[in-house]
Amino acid sequence: MTPRNDFPLLERQVDGRRITYLDSASTTPKPRAVIDAVRRYYENHTANVHRGAHVLSEETTSRYEEARFSIAALVGAAPNEIVFVRNTTEAINLVAHGLGLSSEDEIVTTALEHHSNYLPWRLHARAVPLPLDEDGVPRYELLRERLTSRTKLAAVAHVSNVTGVVAPIERWIEESHARGVPVLLDASQSVSHLPVDVKALDVDFFAFSSHKMLGPSGVGALYAKADWLERFPLYQVGGGMVARHDDDRFEPREVPFRFEAGTPAIEATIGFGEAASYLRAIGMERVAEHSRRIGAEMVDSLRSIPGVRLFGASIPPERRIGLATFTLDVGDLAQRDVARLLSDGHQVIVSGGLHCAHLFHQRMTVAGTVRASSHVFNDSSDVARLAAAVREIAS
Ligand SMILES: Cc1ncc(COP(=O)(O)O)c(C=O)c1O
Repeated sequence: MTPRNDFPLLERQVDGRRITYLDSASTTPKPRAVIDAVRRYYENHTANVHRGAHVLSEETTSRYEEARFSIAALVGAAPNEIVFVRNTTEAINLVAHGLGLSSEDEIVTTALEHHSNYLPWRLHARAVPLPLDEDGVPRYELLRERLTSRTKLAAVAHVSNVTGVVAPIERWIEESHARGVPVLLDASQSVSHLPVDVKALDVDFFAFSSHKMLGPSGVGALYAKADWLERFPLYQVGGGMVARHDDDRFEPREVPFRFEAGTPAIEATIGFGEAASYLRAIGMERVAEHSRRIGAEMVDSLRSIPGVRLFGASIPPERRIGLATFTLDVGDLAQRDVARLLSDGHQVIVSGGLHCAHLFHQRMTVAGTVRASSHVFNDSSDVARLAAAVREIAS
């Protein structure tokens, strides 16, 4: 779908063999365009943003704000509704802080969530998780009955980092809004696999990380409807977020800058914008089509291997991305060890363990899982190499 040689990491060899990278749900390799954008900043610009009165600073500020436009365009937002944060985790914590929650308040979510879309709700309020079925899929149909007068938000992963299943978000948003409840989508695993239009969805909050969408780590974004951002209390204060400061009072800058205190991850943000442009140039419909196809191929090829138990595989490929999670029953080998064997013996790079989703593993009564996750550069040969390696370990 896209030239593998856009991604220098894929040339990497371990023990004399080229790696097969199937761990994009953890973090993605970066295309040369992103690496070059970061390098250009170091070589040509290196300055702070929104501060200096010199040409390098002006240029850097332009690159930085162009990144905001690029990211806004990817998700159909207005640029002033994009707040740059460190990552998805910080975006969700910002919302948890901004909503002014108390211990009586309830946040409806699911038992499938990543810790970053669960612990902030536990900390600030009470998390009400929807249960999972035996395949690890949330019983989304129970949402309506869990929304009460105490519900302050309905927060769900757009795509699960554990199963790759796409949540029925249109219905989730419609049912929540019908009860006057705003919705947060944890989009870390969706935004670089599916076309998204936050306006058409009418979602209130949408959180994602650059490093999972071909960009650098250290930066992410929170989309929030402008009226939420106008109402939110300040999160962090300091340089860059203030318009005026005297002995009596200080006045924050306008949204979104008031939520971006301190020197940001400038080069990472420029790279983030480049990653969004790279994805837009391929076209998100094509990206999604490819992701679904690789997901279906992975599930189909793993399904027939003795000892493999897949999760989320009862869901049709149209509602999954290119990710497959499974356990392999081979004696007393832990799933982390299976992942290690795949890497050390076969140069197939996957995740093994709990994927920051302890509740899922408790509910499924498994001590861990192996997760293979693809992106635009993977193809059928990678799936074949994964399946052959798993088959060999199984035997
Ligand atoms: C679904 C989901 N939510 C949240 C996160 C947290 O992302 P970050 O560590 O970039 O904040 C992840 C990361 O794995 C994830 O997969």
